[in-house]
This record gives sequence, C-alpha cells and structure tokens, in this order.
Amino acid sequence: MPNALKNAFVCGHPISHSRSPVIHNYWLKVYGMNGSYRAIDVAPADFETFLTALAANGFIGGNVTIPHKEVAFALAVQSDDVCKLIGAANTLWLEDGALCATNTDAIGFAANLDERLSGWDVQKSALVLGAGGASRAIIHALMDRGFTSVRVANRSLARAVELKDRFGEKVSAHTLDDLNDLATGVGIIINTTSLGMKGKGEIPLNMSLLKADTMVTDIVYVPLMTPFLTAAEQAGLKVADGLGMLLHQAAPGFQKWFGVRPKVTEELRNLIIADMVAYR
Ligand code: ATR
Repeated sequence: MPNALKNAFVCGHPISHSRSPVIHNYWLKVYGMNGSYRAIDVAPADFETFLTALAANGFIGGNVTIPHKEVAFALAVQSDDVCKLIGAANTLWLEDGALCATNTDAIGFAANLDERLSGWDVQKSALVLGAGGASRAIIHALMDRGFTSVRVANRSLARAVELKDRFGEKVSAHTLDDLNDLATGVGIIINTTSLGMKGKGEIPLNMSLLKADTMVTDIVYVPLMTPFLTAAEQAGLKVADGLGMLLHQAAPGFQKWFGVRPKVTEELRNLIIADMVAYR
C-alpha cells in the first residue's frame, strides 16, 4: 500500500514543551505526506511497555527524549555505531518488527554549525561546558571532525572524567573553576549546560579575555540568544544559537519514517521561533 498512513511520535516525560511535532508536521505538509507525528507523555515505568507495543499501536517509529534516551538505546535490538558511542538513542524505527535505534544529535550539532558558523571546525580545539548526554554527542561530532584537543569542564568532575575515559586522550577533564584559563587559545566554546538559560545562573567565563577568532555556541535555544551568547557577541566573537541543532537532528528521523530527506529552511526556523514566542 504505497499511500498507507504512517504514524510517528516523540515521547518523553514531560513532553508538552517539545517543538518536534511542529517541525515534523511542517515537513509532512510541505512534502504532502500521508503521515502523522505526535507528542506522547510516557512515564519511565511505562516506557518499555510503550516500546513493545509500537507496531500494535500503529507506529513506524519516533523520537525519544529526556528521560528515555539511555533506556531506548538499551532496549533497541539493533543500534548503529554512533548510538553505541554516545550510549543513548534519540531516533527509533521498526525493521521487520525489530526495534532499531540511532542518535542524530551529533549530526544535528555539526550541520547547524556548518550552516551558521563557517570555519568552526578549522582550529581543531574546543572547550565543552557540561558532561551530560548532549555533551557526549557533541564530543563525538568533534572527534568525527578531527578535533585534537577537547577540554570538557563540568560541575562534577567525575562525569567529565567519564567522558575522557570514553573518548580517549584527546579529551581532558576539568571543573568549572578555571574557565578563563581553559578557554585560552581554543577555537570554539560550546555550552551544553542549562547555565546560560535565563535565571539559571552565570557561566564564570570572561569573554573579553578570549582571542578574537574564538567562536561560541550554545545548545540551549530558549531564549535563542542566551546570556552566554549575548556576552560573547558583545565581546565581538562569532556566535551561533542552538535552534539549528534541533532542526537538523530531526531530518534523519523524518527520512527514516517517511522516505524523504527534508530541508531545514529559514521558513521552518521562523515558524519555530514564532511558536516559542506563542508558547511563553
Ligand atoms: P543533557 O542530556 O541535556 O546534557 P544532563 O545529562 O542532565 O542533560 O546534563 C546536564 C549538564 O548541565 C551537566 O553537565 C550538569 O552538570 P553535572 O554533571 O555536574 O550535574 C550541568 N548543569 C546543570 N545544572 C547546572 C548548574 N546549576 N551548574 C553547573 N552545571 C549544571
């Protein structure tokens, strides 16, 4: 049946904040697909049952977000190399009834910067703030682009050390105590912590001390220009916001489920920005 309705989902707990339905429903409309994509709140205790019943509930696949990414990876029958390296999944689909998983956060991160921060991967040295799931995906993307020095600074040193152990000698682990020193000479600084969102506390880094060609990005996209990015811009540095990472990580999933590689356009970006304003 070439025109059979295809249903996909994003599940998390909570999930009401997710912009993924707006992105995928926009693409479904633009490409004239017979499909649906909806947000489903699934509590951790119900997640395994939810995955077991995907086909029975008419789903071909979907996205998973906090707090299900690690469990989704563990429960998938097949996961690709990038998913294994990151240790978490954000995109699921069924193949002959078997649950398959990948993680598209690294692709999304790199594609956003390729688009908005030309030359971001030239200098091969980075400072990554944070050592959670997003940080892992980003370190993978940096390794993939041939970075030779990745400094990971985190509130709890143990989590940064975990990432150093996972990714090897090009990664070093630090606390947040000496960010001005750590940032000296790096090509790009990436914030993956919730610090830098409004009201969440400041990142102790003096942007005016950085060399003029240091680039700065933040994976937080609400607000679009975080105080961290604003400070960098005021210091004359090139910056990129995190919205494009969200948009670009969505594209491979859409292709998997609906068969078309969708384009990330300014129209889509503006739609999400308008939606964020309406939501607040
Ligand atoms: P994600 O999957 O989005 O990376 P996460 O795994 O919960 O989410 O990681 C959140 C990151 O933000 C962590 O690096 C966390 O630091 P800890 O590992 O020490 O918890 C960091 N973070 C969150 N709140 C913070 C705060 N108030 N100060 C400093 N770092 C913070």
